[in-house]
Amino acid sequence: MGFAILNGKIIDRSEAKVDVEDRGYQFGDGVYEVIRVYNGKMFTVTEHLHRFVKSSDSIGISFPFSSEQLTSLLEELIVKNNLRVGIIYMQITRGVAPRNHAFPTEDVIPTFVAYTKEVPRPAESLKTGVKTILTEDIRWLRCDIKSLNLLGNLLAKQKAAEEGCFEAIQHRGEDVTEGSSSNIFIVKNGLVSTHPSNHLILKGITKDVILQLCAKNNIPLKERTFSLEELEEADEVFLASTTSEVMPIIEIAGKKVMDGMPAPVTKKLQELFVQEIEKQCGALKES
Ligand code: PDD
Repeated sequence: MGFAILNGKIIDRSEAKVDVEDRGYQFGDGVYEVIRVYNGKMFTVTEHLHRFVKSSDSIGISFPFSSEQLTSLLEELIVKNNLRVGIIYMQITRGVAPRNHAFPTEDVIPTFVAYTKEVPRPAESLKTGVKTILTEDIRWLRCDIKSLNLLGNLLAKQKAAEEGCFEAIQHRGEDVTEGSSSNIFIVKNGLVSTHPSNHLILKGITKDVILQLCAKNNIPLKERTFSLEELEEADEVFLASTTSEVMPIIEIAGKKVMDGMPAPVTKKLQELFVQEIEKQCGALKES
């Protein structure tokens, strides 16, 4: 099982336990992050920690570490767990207090937990692409906070799983927002489009890397809201997330995207994305 971090200390994971009155457990009163690890090194760690602190600030939990402190703790955890390719999951909650919806008035120490998991790159799906469903976005209006409250996302993902699909593409009425655990991109006549990073979606770190890669490589990209009709008529569709990277979407609600094969702009972005990983984390094994 390896080691975990509980409130700043690295301990045996089997001993990392939280109280039944932890507000994360009872209310989902907390925020989380998932960081990719390649070759034992964290990818885009600064960006993830920045978003973690921002999510935490936005719900009034004061972050108990500096970025430097947390980075070195996480590095130590990776070494202790001998993690090569996988993820770090971490969350911070408001802490333990007698159950009451309003925030505790006394000083409560936030609960911080982190652990690692081996997760290989999804090599096969990156080549062949994945199938998706469509579902109405029923979530709250602060999707920019990476909150532990994931029921809307879970219900969407479950619906996809029941239909043998990898992801659920969510939409608010006619407007496509994002996947249940990913950001969604379309390509039409060479232009890449993705939902603007506002309160309706999570500002994905992978999305931001893609934005930078497009800018550097003269690939036209616009952050703009696009419709279900545009999604249906797109030349290419892909999703982006920490665990899935740049993942081609080849089918939406039983209908093929063009000829149902990963297409040129998506493939180019996959190639550039791998170069970015290798720049930060060293060469990836051929997969
Ligand atoms: N999910 N949108 C949602 C709703 C997400 O949950 C995620 C990530 C993303 C993509 O963000 P990023 O590129 O920073 O991973 C977009 C993580 C991986 C998860 O919940 O496991």
